[in-house]
Amino acid sequence: MSAIGEIPHGKIMPFALRPLEEIDTTQAAEIERDAFPTLFPPTPFRRELRNRMAQYLVAWRRDDLNPSNRVTSAAGDVEAPPGSPLSISRLLDNARGFLAKRNTTWVQGEQYVAGFLGTWYMVDEAHIVSVGVRTEHRGNGIGELLLIGGIEQATNRGSAVVTLEVRASNDVAQNLYKKYGFTERGVRKAYYTDNREDALIMTTDEIQSQEFRDRFQFLSAAHQGRWGFSDRLLV
Ligand SMILES: CC(C)(COP(=O)(O)OP(=O)(O)OC[C@H]1O[C@@H](n2cnc3c(N)ncnc32)[C@H](O)[C@@H]1OP(=O)(O)O)[C@@H](O)C(=O)NCCC(=O)NCCS
Repeated sequence: MSAIGEIPHGKIMPFALRPLEEIDTTQAAEIERDAFPTLFPPTPFRRELRNRMAQYLVAWRRDDLNPSNRVTSAAGDVEAPPGSPLSISRLLDNARGFLAKRNTTWVQGEQYVAGFLGTWYMVDEAHIVSVGVRTEHRGNGIGELLLIGGIEQATNRGSAVVTLEVRASNDVAQNLYKKYGFTERGVRKAYYTDNREDALIMTTDEIQSQEFRDRFQFLSAAHQGRWGFSDRLLV
């Protein structure tokens, strides 16, 4: 992790990670409603801040950066860095996000939060309970940044594996998890109450193993090469 303020040479991602704070909980709830519209009951973010088992990270926008370093458009929307491939589905995602732009509770002067990831630490397992990015910011490396932060945090805390449940139909999230070495370890039948959809249980191999660390280093370096350096304050 590098301290905020120590800006290395090269491209800088306009989003950074830090732990969720009380002031972010309204935005976190808003992001959750966007990412999981059928979730009930909603996550009690304020209470989660006092849950010693839980750790939430947010991806917040670096409005402090010199605009020439930022990979954003004049309107503040994140754009892919020049030369990076943008698939049709990504373009459609971005267009949907643009059309779906809704009122946000974010106010000027507060740090704008684009996504969050929550982990519960149980014995030697880090259980990712939630990860979501605002629709209008998807496809820009923020979900991956959050997952990198979650795995890094779990590694620092000595967890053996990282595990999670994901909807059987959620190919986008599954792609992200597979990229980071999660594999399917089981199914929870009719786990989701809204449509009785199955959940796949996806788990990493031993995250403390040299093999996992090497692959993880490679992937996070590739993320940095593609989207820019991002500060990660994980605590
Ligand atoms: C899943 C989610 C967090 C991904 O966040 P994101 O910021 O859009 O993802 P990124 O831009 O960082 O992409 C990371 C990886 O995700 C996968 N991915 C992202 N968008 C994708 C798309 N449209 N189609 C296929 N795979 C996609 C790819 O593996 C991608 O890696 P790549 O760029 O090397 O191909 C986001 O889509 C989201 O909030 N979805 C709704 C909530 C949700 O489903 N959460 C997961 C619950 S288990």
